[in-house]
Amino acid sequence: MATRRLLPILLLAAACTGTPDAPVASFTSEPFGSMPDGRTAQLFTLKNAAGAEMRVTDYGGIIVSLTMPDRTGTFADIVLGYDSLAQYQASSPYFGALIGRYGNRIGGAKFTLDGVEYPLTVNDGPNQLHGGLVGFDKVLWDAEPFADSLGAGLRLQYASPDGEEGYPGTLHVSVVYRLTDDHRVTIDYEAMTDKATVVNLTHHSYFNLAGPGHTILDHELWIDADSTTVVGAGLIPTGEIASVEGTPFDFRTPLPIGARIDDPDPVLQLGPGYDHNWVLNGGITPEPRTVARLSHPGSGRVMEIRTVEPGLQFYAGNFLDGTITGKGGIVYGRRTGLCLETQHFPDSPNHAHFPPTVLRPGETYRTRTEYVFKTDAAGA
Ligand code: BGC
Repeated sequence: MATRRLLPILLLAAACTGTPDAPVASFTSEPFGSMPDGRTAQLFTLKNAAGAEMRVTDYGGIIVSLTMPDRTGTFADIVLGYDSLAQYQASSPYFGALIGRYGNRIGGAKFTLDGVEYPLTVNDGPNQLHGGLVGFDKVLWDAEPFADSLGAGLRLQYASPDGEEGYPGTLHVSVVYRLTDDHRVTIDYEAMTDKATVVNLTHHSYFNLAGPGHTILDHELWIDADSTTVVGAGLIPTGEIASVEGTPFDFRTPLPIGARIDDPDPVLQLGPGYDHNWVLNGGITPEPRTVARLSHPGSGRVMEIRTVEPGLQFYAGNFLDGTITGKGGIVYGRRTGLCLETQHFPDSPNHAHFPPTVLRPGETYRTRTEYVFKTDAAGA
């Protein structure tokens, strides 16, 4: 085990000391398919200097694959997705995508801002989910790959027209993905508007630290949250913020996800299973702090989430039901991938006591999330 781990460490050390033959971060791109209007979507392959690889397409800003090492140094793809653009276009439960303008649900698909009611497109019962019928997950972004001393990255930009999916204001959005040489995936989001609007951007990778096709019920999760936003029908917040104490939502001590996922708790059963927003301790912070840790004891892979956001949606892949065949022909059964979506709370525009999601002209929306990959091997 020690010998296999030595090589990446030596290579990384070489990169840091500037040895001439040291591996460096790099990127390549290739066509991934066509949009209905004839534009070509690209697939970018980003590599860091330590052997990890992330493939991202400018269609929806989707992370198509991400490889990370286990405790023996063996890399595996740890996100769910498809092999072709056509499959993403045909139907996807937001695999790996950028989500906007509003991540999560807006109850009744409407909100009132400065006395004006804005009806939104409806795509989840009577509600709106993840930005509507054609959210940021389904548009083609302008993309510019880069590599620098930190790793490889992709800068994505999209101008969302005034009124798109019902939202006021032209919204100029920029998202920068980085795959750093120390195995972090960082996401920096920025947006500006020309009319008062609401914004809540997030990312929707389905992780499985065991590699493709396995259950996520054996993953252990820690979430630094004393409470959650309680939901009612359609997973819309009631406005109540409830303590996790004595409930299956208490992840303040790391526990296997499967331990309590089918508990009869009525709010949990609405999922059914985990599909809720945790109110992160510390609220909105100026710099990212570690808010959650996911670990897979079998492989030793660990993922920490760092963010400035006040909320985290933990979705346990309850709606995956074996009808989707993903990359490499692997069938995605129930709970074989999980999402940890950093965010402001769902339905905030309709709850005045939730942290506000309003963006006004002249302001810049900025948020940052980091997925930090490690292993539980000694010294890692
Ligand atoms: C939501 C789930 C939804 C999933 C895919 C998650 O963010 O919380 O309810 O099924 O996205 O659409």
